[in-house]
Amino acid sequence: MIYHKAGPLKGEITVPGDKSISHRAVMFGALAEGRSEVSNFLQGADCLSTIQCFRQLGIEITNQPKSRTVTIHGKGLHGLTRPKETLDVGNSGTTMRLISGILSGQNFTTTITGDASIRKRPMGRIMSPLRMMGADIESIGNNDCAPLLINGKIINHQSLNGIHYYSPVASAQVKSCVLLAGLYADGETTVTEPSLSRDHTERMLRQFGATVHSNGNTATVLPNPCLTGRKIVVPGDISSAAYFIAAGLLVPNSEILIKNVGINPTRDGIIHVCKQMGANIRLENVVDHGGEPVADIVVKHSELHGTKVNGNIIPTLIDEIPVIAVLACFAKGETIIKDASELKVKESNRIDTMVENLSKMGADIVATEDGMIIRGGKPLHGAIIDSKFDHRIAMSFAVASLMAEGNTKILDSECVNISYPDFYTDLRNLYKGA
Ligand code: S3P
Repeated sequence: MIYHKAGPLKGEITVPGDKSISHRAVMFGALAEGRSEVSNFLQGADCLSTIQCFRQLGIEITNQPKSRTVTIHGKGLHGLTRPKETLDVGNSGTTMRLISGILSGQNFTTTITGDASIRKRPMGRIMSPLRMMGADIESIGNNDCAPLLINGKIINHQSLNGIHYYSPVASAQVKSCVLLAGLYADGETTVTEPSLSRDHTERMLRQFGATVHSNGNTATVLPNPCLTGRKIVVPGDISSAAYFIAAGLLVPNSEILIKNVGINPTRDGIIHVCKQMGANIRLENVVDHGGEPVADIVVKHSELHGTKVNGNIIPTLIDEIPVIAVLACFAKGETIIKDASELKVKESNRIDTMVENLSKMGADIVATEDGMIIRGGKPLHGAIIDSKFDHRIAMSFAVASLMAEGNTKILDSECVNISYPDFYTDLRNLYKGA
């Protein structure tokens, strides 16, 4: 994929369904009794991996990619059956970590693996709380990474133990894994995090009929609920909208309307940071869709200034930090991103990948222990970008290239299929139609 300076961006765009919500809709639909219908389901490779895993676990799921509708014929909390083969989550950390919580409570053994990136990502963070609950889970290579072997607890007619887990990291994947295992426990299960991570699991489990209490950074689930199939409308993914927000702010004379975006307060950090940087950005038509707030976002080109991004806001924009780094390159003054060491264990090490590639384009950026420091205002030039097969890196550099002199080539750019298969077409249409 080769990109160069372009713009302005004008018009309207609807981004695909939220990745986190799409995953959960399939998982909870599978554990519910009866039919669940999910509309605006994200047709990205990660969510398709979740569908494939639950099909292997004996759940009938139909997917109509054109209408983006998925129907799940759930069999209840104890309806999953032993897969004949190893489950493969592909590139999806969410699938791997959440499903491990569910599999710990079954009456069969499962092996689960994923691609080269997944097999390097830390799974000790879920194995440790699951073991506290009495789960039998091991890393086959003995390195706290996938492949994992999980012997379901009720093989021996036992259940998991309800625990209060104090997570050392603010991670929705860890929290959700423990809460899902908690559905199969003998008492209530509580997770307290250092900062509140995205709460889609808590919101959606409640919609399916589970008892879930949230209090600040603590969430509690009661075991053995009777979950009932339902309709779910997936809002647009704010993490996908972030690239258009950034492009609209950066490219002179742009004005775009991004329709139907999920603005859950545990996900909307990007909007706060853009406003802090002086962005002209406005929310319209705020409504509630099945427990998730949704809005249209209007973005106009703006002169930005540097800012500080750290503390409790980090989990609410963790996936948007790569594109925030791009924004910071064009903002006046210094931007400091701290408390974000979680970036090192994403699909790539996103601190190193951003610093390496933005430096190649001429940016003034340095990596720190837990983030980066960017001095904005240096003009960027085209370069060859190594995306490291990381979808969010590829999309961030497509945005950077719109502002750079000369051509930018993004290697392995097709990795956007993970979360946004039509990304390049949608981006091009916004400036072609201008
Ligand atoms: C996700 C949680 C986040 C995020 C990932 C999706 C989820 O990971 O980076 O893209 O759906 O729960 P962590 O919870 O590990 O921070």
